[in-house]
Amino acid sequence: MALSVVIMAAGKGTRMRSARPKVLHTLGGTPLLGHVLATAETLAPSRCIVVTGHGAELVEAAFAADERLFVRQMPQLGTGHAVQQAVPVLPDDGVALVLNGDVPLIRAATLRALVDASAGKRLALLTVELANPFGYGRIVRGSEAGDADGIGAVQAIVEEKDATPLQRQITEVYTGILAAPAALLKGWLARLTDRNAQGEFYLTDVVAHAVADGVEVCTASTADETEVLGVNSPAQLADLERRLQRRHADALMESGVRLADPSRFDLRGTLACGMDVEIDVGCVFEGEVSLGDGARVGAHCVIRDAQVAAGAVIHPFTHIEGASVGAGALVGPFARLRPGATLGREVHIGNFVEVKNSTLADGAKANHLAYLGDATVGERVNVGAGSITANYDGANKHRTTIGADVHVGSNCVLVAPLTIGAGATIGGGSTITRTVAPGSLAIGRARQVAFANWERPKKAPQ
Ligand code: UD1
Ligand code: CA
Repeated sequence: MALSVVIMAAGKGTRMRSARPKVLHTLGGTPLLGHVLATAETLAPSRCIVVTGHGAELVEAAFAADERLFVRQMPQLGTGHAVQQAVPVLPDDGVALVLNGDVPLIRAATLRALVDASAGKRLALLTVELANPFGYGRIVRGSEAGDADGIGAVQAIVEEKDATPLQRQITEVYTGILAAPAALLKGWLARLTDRNAQGEFYLTDVVAHAVADGVEVCTASTADETEVLGVNSPAQLADLERRLQRRHADALMESGVRLADPSRFDLRGTLACGMDVEIDVGCVFEGEVSLGDGARVGAHCVIRDAQVAAGAVIHPFTHIEGASVGAGALVGPFARLRPGATLGREVHIGNFVEVKNSTLADGAKANHLAYLGDATVGERVNVGAGSITANYDGANKHRTTIGADVHVGSNCVLVAPLTIGAGATIGGGSTITRTVAPGSLAIGRARQVAFANWERPKKAPQ
């Protein structure tokens, strides 16, 4: 059966107190609306319509690359009014699934069950039991309890502001998500009015119209309230972030990853891990990251779009972006690998070393306080403390090529473009500007001068 999805994303999000439209606030590094769209897409709908309004240009621009339909709701007169805007582009056949742009963690399986419950002939509501139902629309059921299961049929949804004190005690609430035969839904939408406590066109009033038309109203529910929690405030956003991270952490631990503390772990993208991976506290993974078998990541590392091969160790407080780390390599603490850093096997990058757009072949080492930019570094090269490649002349970047087994002493400036032949030695404190032949010793520094019995200046007596 054909499925159409309508996502409501026009609301203002007043309580976020933000210039940014609510559905563009991020959860796990992805905008709220991005989560909903991704989940909706797994249902392979024939049409996906997003209702925008508040900050419409920004929302549409953020998702412009993808194939979906935007309809605008101006002004925003309620959830029913929002879905009304989709009617002209909503196919008549099949089931329409209405989602909330600010309920990001809904699961595809739950939505599938809801669509199945609708079965092209019923109005299906996704509901949840909440200990504190305040603020939600309450599911009002018939008192006759006529069903075989002893639960009365749904009569209506009543909003908090319109509810009687007795209705406010109902703990079964509407999650804001429903599925209905598209043609019937269109008919009910056309009959909505704004005669209620908020003067809005409530989508929830379609329930009363379905009941009046003799169309069966059924419910599907979820035991996991995380799925149906909405984001209305920064505190709720932070709460959902922790819940999402807990999902990520649980999935990783399930696959064998050892997290020192699942409550101090953040993934904003995807993380693929081999066997026996260990991750200490406070790490942030962004974009696409992979960690090979036995890789270990120390505390407080930030790793983005990187591949870390088997057995590599990333020591604490290391920042890696757009880089790849070879098997058995040691990186950090306090190291920075920038885009284009490619480290071979057993490479050692120590504290306060920065590597950018450079390849370090197997066994190369830069253990302390170095900068390697736009360099090709051969096998087993050792770069001393305080040595750098001067790759930028103020206008252009130039490469430094260092052959295998070169030893660069401490505090050297390698002025690019430069080639240092294999096996060469660079004396400490040198500024090297010309090609160094293989196997040679190059020294480029002032000669030491000695003045015997040198008297230091003294302060005059007061
Ligand atoms: C709605 C439901 C309520 C349910 C709750 C679940 C109605 C009348 N009430 O209440 O029963 O328990 O969700 O969270 O539907 N939106 C628009 N245009 C508008 C108004 C809202 O696009 O004119 C969008 C919002 O951006 C949001 C969603 O609709 O994504 C829900 O709006 P919101 O104002 O949060 O609805 P509630 O009053 O919380
Ligand atoms: Ca809401």
